[in-house]
Amino acid sequence: MMQAPFRIALLPGDGIGPEVVSEAVKVLQALEEVLGATFRFQTGLIGGAALDQTALPLPPETISICNSAQAVLLGAVGGPQWDSKRPEVRPEQGLLQLRQRLGLFVNLRPAKVLESLVNLSALKPDRVRGTDLVIVRELLGGIYFGNPRGIFARNGERMGVNTEVYREHEIERVAHRAFVLARTRRNKVTSVDKANVLESSRLWREVVKRVALSYPDVELDHMYVDACAMRLIENPTSFDVVLTTNLFGDILSDEAAMLTGSIGLLPSASLGEHSALYEPIHGSAPSIAGRKRANPIAAIASAAMMMRYSFRKEDVADAMETAIERVLKRGVRTPDLPGRKRPLTTSRVGDLVAAETCKLLRHATSKKPSRRRK
Ligand code: IPM
Ligand code: MG
Repeated sequence: MMQAPFRIALLPGDGIGPEVVSEAVKVLQALEEVLGATFRFQTGLIGGAALDQTALPLPPETISICNSAQAVLLGAVGGPQWDSKRPEVRPEQGLLQLRQRLGLFVNLRPAKVLESLVNLSALKPDRVRGTDLVIVRELLGGIYFGNPRGIFARNGERMGVNTEVYREHEIERVAHRAFVLARTRRNKVTSVDKANVLESSRLWREVVKRVALSYPDVELDHMYVDACAMRLIENPTSFDVVLTTNLFGDILSDEAAMLTGSIGLLPSASLGEHSALYEPIHGSAPSIAGRKRANPIAAIASAAMMMRYSFRKEDVADAMETAIERVLKRGVRTPDLPGRKRPLTTSRVGDLVAAETCKLLRHATSKKPSRRRK
């Protein structure tokens, strides 16, 4: 029996966003037959594209499209033509507002070094080989959203103010997610803070220790953010799950992405109690937009995370990820990845990943004993 369609909101956004989202959609659609399920897509405006058409970075219609979907797939937001705008009407605001509106308090950013691409890393192959970590970034609190904030005049001088605030429940809920995730991996959480200087970090550390009591099988250690930044370069394979605050996670996840040498490959998931948003880590790359050069793999890998976390289709997610690894191993490359004389187009890479995923899933289904009885 066919199951009800999976309802997905598509927010292609700016720059290369629309091109890479199309490839992720292509892969999902290619799976419909072997999955015995269909996808229903609804497209909304966000970022600069939304500003141009509605003067808002996140129009109300987009919020309602996202609210009625089970999961959101986003491309990228931003571009130089919107850079001079006032901060409240910059494309990035669309993303920050959407995180808030959907209650997306945890952001998962995996960074895995693939053996076939180990030479692309900014570091020596021997140092990064085998790196497989996930940054679990708190996404709705900390200095991004704390009050007071603003630029104020005092004694004839302006003063810029932002405030790092963490409430216990905000730390608790994200910490639980990190420990649960660690149990599906190598059972290790490194919590990153600045508890030697910041009160918000002292509370962070205390609450994380308390949450850890419910997960005695998971090893927990704590690290100051500066030490962690260093350790990520020195010994990246020592990390499994890295749990941290909004700002520290923003910074460390870009650093971790560079270990893999290829920001065009990395996906992310932002999860809340009831909603989820998936997006590539890379930006809108305006200089290559519309030129068939964008790497669609991060967007396809984000769709794989969607299959895992929103639709509980672990086998499909695994197949999509294995397909990506196989295709890369065969030497398939977009121009961002050196190593091939004639790089392939965005859409060709999408075709190859779609075909490989279908092959893997067909093979898996044909091996399963049939449950149908005459
Ligand atoms: C990210 C980005 C965003 C952030 C920007 C675009 C608001 O850098 O997702 O890491 O700072 O969270
Ligand atoms: Mg960032």
